[in-house]
Amino acid sequence: MRSVKEYNSPHSTTADITGHDLFREEVIRGLQSHPKYLSSKYFYDKRGDELFQQIMECPEYYLTDCELDIFSNQTHELAHIITAQAVAPFDLIELGAGDGTKSKYLLQELLHQKADFTYLPIDISGNVLTQLESNLSDLTNLKMKSLQGDYLDMLGEAAAMSSHRKVVLFLGANIGNMNRLEAQLFCESVHRILQPGDQLLIGFDLKKNPQTILDAYNDHAGITRDFNLNLLERINRELEADFDLTQFTHYPMYDPETGACKSYLVSTVQQTVTMGDHSFRFNEGEWIFMEISQKYSIKNIQTLAAQSGFVIERNLTDQKNWFVDSIWKVI
Ligand SMILES: C[S@@+](CC[C@H](N)C(=O)[O-])C[C@H]1O[C@@H](n2cnc3c(N)ncnc32)[C@H](O)[C@@H]1O
Repeated sequence: MRSVKEYNSPHSTTADITGHDLFREEVIRGLQSHPKYLSSKYFYDKRGDELFQQIMECPEYYLTDCELDIFSNQTHELAHIITAQAVAPFDLIELGAGDGTKSKYLLQELLHQKADFTYLPIDISGNVLTQLESNLSDLTNLKMKSLQGDYLDMLGEAAAMSSHRKVVLFLGANIGNMNRLEAQLFCESVHRILQPGDQLLIGFDLKKNPQTILDAYNDHAGITRDFNLNLLERINRELEADFDLTQFTHYPMYDPETGACKSYLVSTVQQTVTMGDHSFRFNEGEWIFMEISQKYSIKNIQTLAAQSGFVIERNLTDQKNWFVDSIWKVI
């Protein structure tokens, strides 16, 4: 039976839950910094969700197809790795679940195997959780409770809800939106919330031809550019700022040595942007750091797992060997 959603109405904005004040505070802090930055977690309002779904359809954005390849062709194997642990009921918690396109394969397989589990998708966007519920509405036997909010806050809430074994999914290379140190601190925090025997499945985008990676964040149709610019538009709309979007260009770059793919918005003119009582001065050519998409080698993944207290149970890769879903266990 489907339980009551934990998040606000579909028409609410992320700021309703994470705090409009927090959004404002973080934007001010980022735009007053040198160099300027904005947090990519704010990309996902209603328009941002739409644009991200269009990015997933772009021919250059290989990440979704690769992980879909794993989830659609190795579903049985994935389900087995989870259910082989024990027959007891478990909670399947998904961090940054999005529209659930990939997870649906696993959910269907688990239901088919009559596994006893509750699905707890977590996302900062209430809008996307509403879409997710609709996308999964045909899974009539699915026990599900959606949680809107930040990854770790909501994981803590989910962990406190039951004493069942936990299996945490973190797909889509969302971990890449943290730098290597942030990723380690994040995995350590997840480890602290989990118990021995619990599992964490993380999707990592692997290092590969640098041009292939750069193209994925610089699609010809300009959707990734619009996705980045949408955050300025959101700040205009929700925080009453006056960014002129025509005076910023999208600049993605990839450094194969560090595996860091970064997106910037660059001011094409000297200008001042105002937001309430605050004003932010931009020199011509000055940039705002928008997002990192960190790429990993298998060795990097092994190091991250070991440093944060997990053992790797399995690495499942797609047919091109471009992406890996790495299944870890708490020891
Ligand atoms: C790149 S999309 C990936 C979605 C999905 N995991 C997939 O693989 O298709 C990132 C998702 O994570 C959510 N998200 C981003 N930052 C978040 C945060 N700090 N806490 C919770 N959700 C977050 C976004 O709203 C978005 O739905």
